[in-house]
Amino acid sequence: MAKPARGPARDELLPEWPRLVQEGERVLIRSPAPGDEPALIEMATDAQVRRYIGGPVDPDTAAASANQKVTGQQPGQFVIVERATGAVAGSGSLARKRGPWEISYQLRAAFTGRGLAGEAVALVTGWFFATMPDDLLIATTQRANEASRRLLQRAGAVLTGTFDQYGKVQERYDFRRGATS
Ligand SMILES: CC(C)(COP(=O)(O)OP(=O)(O)OC[C@H]1O[C@@H](n2cnc3c(N)ncnc32)[C@H](O)[C@@H]1OP(=O)(O)O)[C@@H](O)C(=O)NCCC(=O)NCCS
Repeated sequence: MAKPARGPARDELLPEWPRLVQEGERVLIRSPAPGDEPALIEMATDAQVRRYIGGPVDPDTAAASANQKVTGQQPGQFVIVERATGAVAGSGSLARKRGPWEISYQLRAAFTGRGLAGEAVALVTGWFFATMPDDLLIATTQRANEASRRLLQRAGAVLTGTFDQYGKVQERYDFRRGATS
């Protein structure tokens, strides 16, 4: 898609985001919709999925957050759908958590180890650089989260620094326009 002449405000995703669909070989990315709640709640309450991202939340909190996501009240959210089955395999977001736009991602436990998250991250970063004016998109991960670090390195992100959060070493990875495949 052509870059808009004036571009979006730097702190907003394009208005098309809620209707976004990006199709890859095995996954598609779309905004959350009613019906996605069970998958979103499963991830939010799963101790393994949440191990490096704050721990599991209680079912009521998970249900309230899922409802906000599927009704479009949390901008920048997406779900990762496995095309072969139509199942929601994971989710993620684009948000400005600490300045630059930042991508986050998670898979349901049953969907890890197959490259689905890597494909999803490639689709979202591709959309981002094709559509937004920014030249930088970051990701952060606990150093201990080896699967996430491997994913980011495979995706072409470059380790640019470390910081402490919640008493854990975190790594920052940068995606730069034109630097990823
Ligand atoms: C981080 C997370 C999304 C990574 O998931 P993942 O399944 O390892 O990542 P991918 O979907 O890219 O799959 C890559 C793995 O599948 C394997 N794989 C199998 N078939 C593959 C294929 N066709 N293409 C690519 N990878 C394939 C790869 O070898 C790789 O395994 P490895 O890392 O052990 O070498 C997942 O561990 C997760 O959801 N964790 C909990 C939430 C979380 O911590 N999120 C990150 C916060 S920073």
